[in-house]
Amino acid sequence: MSTAPIPVIAIDGPSASGKGTIAQIVASKLGYHYLDSGAIYRITALAAKNLGVSWQDETALAALAEKMNIRFEQGQILLNGEIITEAVRTEEISRGASEVAVHPQLRTALLGLQKSFRQVPGLVADGRDMATVIFPDAQTKIFLTASAEIRAERRYKQLIEKGIHANLADILQDLQTRDARDQQRSVAPLQQSKNATLLETSALSIEQAVQAVLDCRQQSINA
Ligand code: DC
Repeated sequence: MSTAPIPVIAIDGPSASGKGTIAQIVASKLGYHYLDSGAIYRITALAAKNLGVSWQDETALAALAEKMNIRFEQGQILLNGEIITEAVRTEEISRGASEVAVHPQLRTALLGLQKSFRQVPGLVADGRDMATVIFPDAQTKIFLTASAEIRAERRYKQLIEKGIHANLADILQDLQTRDARDQQRSVAPLQQSKNATLLETSALSIEQAVQAVLDCRQQSINA
């Protein structure tokens, strides 16, 4: 029996960099599992809001996280049996996710859940600390980014397409605040792992970015 570790492609980067879309396409092309770790922080923020738990209450958030029954099924997210796919994507919950994510006790409580996604034949994991903390032995590590202006525009277009009212300047401001919070927190801050490949997607289409990730994986296999 092979003792080779289950391969992981870790894709980290700032909010709205497109890493979720790209990671999902790569996972489906390779037949790998997919972990949207940001969704887990979003679910925690939503669960806390629904139960009246403050996003600042570290101990209560960690206790809540231990009890959450989360399922990802056919593109839907379920929390304790309830579909919350859309509810975790609002701007309010985006802010809440970034706020709850600063707490070390909560991050520790969510370690086991995230690691449990590593299953044969492989995993594509996207987030902020996939390459640095959760899967430091990942076979392929990518830091995927784009300028704040481009990310804000992409987010703006997504909202307008869904018929949701949006203001570009507000979105840019929100993104910059979240970037700063994610980069400056003391535990597992958003940063490029020293052995990760930088992928700047401002001028790339989704297809080009997907191909760049696949090329990077091939290089790590050949190395
Ligand atoms: O990737 P996203 O926008 O869905 O993530 C939402 C928030 O969750 C983000 O602002 C920071 C936090 N997060 C984190 O701290 N660690 C991760 N691995 C993923 C997300």
